[in-house]
Amino acid sequence: MHALGIDIGGTGMKAAPVDLDTGKFLADRIKIATPQPAAPDAVAGVVEKLVTAFSWSGPIGVTFPGVVINGVTRTAANLDKAWIGLDARSLLSKAAGQEVRLLNDADAAGIAEMTFGAGSGEPGTVLMVTLGTGIGSALFVNGILIPNTEFGHLEIRGKDAEQRASERAKNLHDMNWKQWAKNVNEYLEHVEALLSPQLIIIGGGISKQSDKFIPLFTGLKAKVVPAAMHNDAGITGAAMAAHPGSAAPARAGAGANANPSLGPTLGTSGVAGTHGDQGLPGFPNPGLPE
Ligand code: BGC
Repeated sequence: MHALGIDIGGTGMKAAPVDLDTGKFLADRIKIATPQPAAPDAVAGVVEKLVTAFSWSGPIGVTFPGVVINGVTRTAANLDKAWIGLDARSLLSKAAGQEVRLLNDADAAGIAEMTFGAGSGEPGTVLMVTLGTGIGSALFVNGILIPNTEFGHLEIRGKDAEQRASERAKNLHDMNWKQWAKNVNEYLEHVEALLSPQLIIIGGGISKQSDKFIPLFTGLKAKVVPAAMHNDAGITGAAMAAHPGSAAPARAGAGANANPSLGPTLGTSGVAGTHGDQGLPGFPNPGLPE
């Protein structure tokens, strides 16, 4: 099964068709700079361009760098404020020429990593953190996603964490690896104190250079690893959300089926729901209330 994944970021918008059985791209991704200001119509125009560039007519999933509940975008820390409260799914569906699925960008990246990447088969509490224009977070408990967690906006030393520890902050304040790693380390210690994950997956484009900063972390009990798909995880996760009936999201459990931010969908069992049958295969029923 194939789907087109589109990842809307504060800096770039990326798309690629994805094979949902492997998570791999079927063609080279296309990247277009996010329009500035990143107003809804301008961003929708780029979505249209990306769909046209691949002459795509199958399912489409789109990520958004903010809270998404049932297709409505609730926050927009790094995009134009006109997104707040907007029925973004309708706008982007019109632009794409067909119904799209819309979810938070870090949630999408996390779903992809839990299925095909660094979190594959990992039980217990796993946190994915994406370090880019902002800081995104995706929290999993036994493979089930708790969507829209927004841990990038925790306050550290009186500032929004993403103002100190995102990739953008590193560039903006011209921090060297050591200085920036210290900020990220402090941020992760804070998050660890709140959530006690046993695995932290670091995503975003900068995760390609993880050897420059992950070895500098100290004092963390969690295992910290780079995302296997780096900045491509969001595209794969978007495509997975587009096709909730596909083998991949069913395996992820956490994926599109169980994501309340996408609205009710039918799982492979034909039952709309959020309970344990959507967990990773071989994993205990997480015991969520039915
Ligand atoms: C947003 C998150 C998003 C993250 C990464 C933050 O500013 O609030 O929703 O996941 O940036 O794009």
